[in-house]
Amino acid sequence: MLFPDYRPRRLRQSEAMRRMIRETILTVNDLILPLFAIDGKGVKNPIDSMPGQYQLSIDNLVKTAKTAYELGIPAIMLFGIPEKKDPLATQAYAKNGIVQKATSELKKQIPDLVVITDVCLCQYTDHGHCGIVEGNIIDNDATLDLLARTALSHAKAGADMVAPSDMMDGRVAEIRDALDENNFSHVPIMSYAAKYCSAYYGPFRDAAHSAPKFGDRRTYQMDPANALEAIREVTLDIEEGADIIMVKPALPYLDIIHRTREEIDLPIAAYNVSGEYAMIKAADKMGWLDGEKVMLETLTAIKRAGADMILTYFAIEAAKAINQ
Ligand code: PBG
Ligand code: ZN
Repeated sequence: MLFPDYRPRRLRQSEAMRRMIRETILTVNDLILPLFAIDGKGVKNPIDSMPGQYQLSIDNLVKTAKTAYELGIPAIMLFGIPEKKDPLATQAYAKNGIVQKATSELKKQIPDLVVITDVCLCQYTDHGHCGIVEGNIIDNDATLDLLARTALSHAKAGADMVAPSDMMDGRVAEIRDALDENNFSHVPIMSYAAKYCSAYYGPFRDAAHSAPKFGDRRTYQMDPANALEAIREVTLDIEEGADIIMVKPALPYLDIIHRTREEIDLPIAAYNVSGEYAMIKAADKMGWLDGEKVMLETLTAIKRAGADMILTYFAIEAAKAINQ
C-alpha cells in the first residue's frame, strides 16, 4: 500500500494513539544503578567528571540504594575503592574489604534489593591493571584464582550476583567452579562478555582510581573495530556458565547489542558507561541539549537494540522521569 492510501501519520496524531503502537517501553525494571563504595563515615565525594555521582561511605551508600529501591529499581552494581593497593590486589578478596562490608550492610538494610558486585582487580592493584602483572605482561592464568577468590568472598558477604569485568580468558568457568564448590551454586554470574577497550571509561577511572599506571588494556579488552569476535566472546562465556551476558559500552555499540540479541537467547545487559553519562551531562550544562530528553531517548535506544537491562548512572533520574 502506497501514499495516498497509506499514511503513517494517521497513527501518530495523538499521544493516546502513539502510546497504542509504541514498540519499546522503558521501565524501572530495566535499570541497574552502579555505585562506588569508599571507607569512612558521612563521606560523599563528588566525582567531577560525573556530575551527580559520588564516592560514598557505606552509610551514604545505603541511603542512595534505598532511594533507588523505593523508586522500583531492582538492582545495584557495586564497585569498591580500597584504602590500600598492592601487586596482588589483596583488598579485592579480603573478608573485610570495602565491597564485602558494603554488601553485607546493604543486604541487612535492604534485603530485597539485588546486589551485584563487580569482580575485578584494577581498583585493588597498585599498577591499575585488571590482572596480575609479570614483567610487562598481564598474566592470564595467574589471575584466575584471585578472581575466583574475589567472587567467592562477595558471595560469602551476601552478594546476589557477581559480575566479572576483567576480560581474562577462562574466568567465568573458574568463578562458577569456586561458587559451586562452596555452596553458592544459586549465585548467578553476569559476565562482562563483550567489553571493549574504550576511551568512554575515562570518568569511571577518575571515580574508581583504576587507571593503569603503564600501558593500556588493549591486550585483554576487545578491539572496538570487531563485531564477530563479540559473538565468540559471548558464546565462550555462556559455555563457561554465564547466566547474563553484557555488552559494554552501550551507545557506541548498539550494533553489538543487536547482533547478540539475534544470536543469543540469554538475558542481555548493556552498560551505559561513565563517558556516555558525562557527555550528556556536559552538553546539558552548556545548554546545548535537553539532558533529560536525551537521557530517555538514549536508554530507550539501548533497550530497542535488544538489551534486557541497562546499567546506568542515570538510573535514579530515569526512574523519577518514568514514574511521574
Ligand atoms: C574495570 C571496570 C571499568 C568499568 C567497569 N569496570 C573500567 C575499565 O575497564 O577501565 C567502566 C565503567 C564505566 O566507564 O562506567 N574492570
Ligand atoms: Zn578491571
